[in-house]
Amino acid sequence: MNYLNIDQNKVKPVVNQLNILLADYHLYYQNLRTFHWNILGKNFFELHQKFENLYNDARTKIDDVAERILTLKYHPISKASQYLEISNIKEEEISLDDAKMITSILENHKQILSQMGNVMQAASKIEDEGTMDMMGSFINELEKESWMLNAWSHNTDEELMLSEMPIQ
Ligand SMILES: [Fe+2]
Repeated sequence: MNYLNIDQNKVKPVVNQLNILLADYHLYYQNLRTFHWNILGKNFFELHQKFENLYNDARTKIDDVAERILTLKYHPISKASQYLEISNIKEEEISLDDAKMITSILENHKQILSQMGNVMQAASKIEDEGTMDMMGSFINELEKESWMLNAWSHNTDEELMLSEMPIQ
């Protein structure tokens, strides 16, 4: 039965982009575990826990993305070898210091946000509102997380703009 209110023949480009996002999330997840295990120094307790929170969140999102693909009536890609082939994200090294780990995570976020943009674009073409809604909330959360990690990095040459009073 076609339970979807979208044209079944047109969902493939959306599924393709979702599979790339799924691959990105797997690589991101594994990078977070790498950092969780290998973090050293004065920020150990804080970041060890932070990375765990982030990979637990990523695990939930992995399942959400895969199940969206199933809802669109496709099998999600599930082989690690294929994730490595199609992901925008590269595997991270174990030897980074804490600041470089945060920078690396922020770069992963940028790649994931860009891929979410690709999903959004494909979904909007066929008015796949379920996928668009999911991407909207993921984007919102990931941008907020990026702001906090960026604040942690405390990049002093980067200043926020002052808000102006809106014109009535
Ligand atoms: Fe652990």
